[in-house]
Amino acid sequence: MSGKLLEPTPEATEEPEHWCSPFRAFDDVRVLYVDLSTGYGREQRAVSWLDDTERHRRDRFVYGRPRHRFTLCRAALRSVLCHQLDCHNQHLAFEASKHGKPYALVRGRPAPINFNVSHSGRHGLIALAPGGRVGVDVEERVPHRNLYELIEAVFGPNEKHELAAANNRDRLHLFFRLWTMKEALSKAHGMGLSLDVSRFEIPHDMRHGATSGCVRFTGMPGAWRLEDTSADRFAAALAYEQVRP
Ligand SMILES: CC(C)(COP(=O)(O)OP(=O)(O)OC[C@H]1O[C@@H](n2cnc3c(N)ncnc32)[C@H](O)[C@@H]1OP(=O)(O)O)[C@@H](O)C(=O)NCCC(=O)NCCS
Repeated sequence: MSGKLLEPTPEATEEPEHWCSPFRAFDDVRVLYVDLSTGYGREQRAVSWLDDTERHRRDRFVYGRPRHRFTLCRAALRSVLCHQLDCHNQHLAFEASKHGKPYALVRGRPAPINFNVSHSGRHGLIALAPGGRVGVDVEERVPHRNLYELIEAVFGPNEKHELAAANNRDRLHLFFRLWTMKEALSKAHGMGLSLDVSRFEIPHDMRHGATSGCVRFTGMPGAWRLEDTSADRFAAALAYEQVRP
């Protein structure tokens, strides 16, 4: 049987850096936007950036959309880190901390950069910090079927009270603002699900519209800068460690 020879689409020849654009910057922390909206051409190109471990992980995704998001974001992350660290892609590898937070290795040695990745729907974010730990979260504002159970599980008493007092549309916006800020803090900390996020609250001013604040965890050293980086199309937040000079 003779097959039709397919011409590569323009997207298939694009490098991952073309899917990324500068999004926000705070101090020396940068956030890049990753456009996850396109189809097969980019994914094909992105796969060629992945190592064997990542390809195996990719093969285990049951659904196409999470597979697409992982593939494009990871290829974009590789391309960005290669540029930042001035290394070849084949010398770059990833390992994960005890709680699952990925970090980069170049030729087997931990790379001098902190990063974090988030993806939701057609949107990806990559945060890069030369100094302290960093966490980023993005969420498309899609109504959740189990919104009330989530509110019960992840928010503190003041947060729950303010969510209950909001009207339906404002509640969804507030929910995603608070959710992404908590998730960004949790991801910066890197403790994953072992951090009980209902035990801390987003600072009062930020719950009421301020886009920037400082957070300290009771019983833990250090301070975290928290930024609400939401846009029209999605809710998003960035948290990074305040490093003393
Ligand atoms: C693992 C976890 C961080 C993933 O979050 P998510 O919203 O499903 O997905 P995101 O797209 O935002 O982030 C996924 C990326 O985070 C990174 N990540 C994984 N584990 C992480 C951890 N423990 N800490 C920081 N980053 C982590 C990975 O790079 C991953 O991307 P990849 O798999 O493509 O490499 C999250 O499930 C979690 O543990 N949350 C704990 C806090 C919580 O209960 N939040 C509820 C809402 S406030």
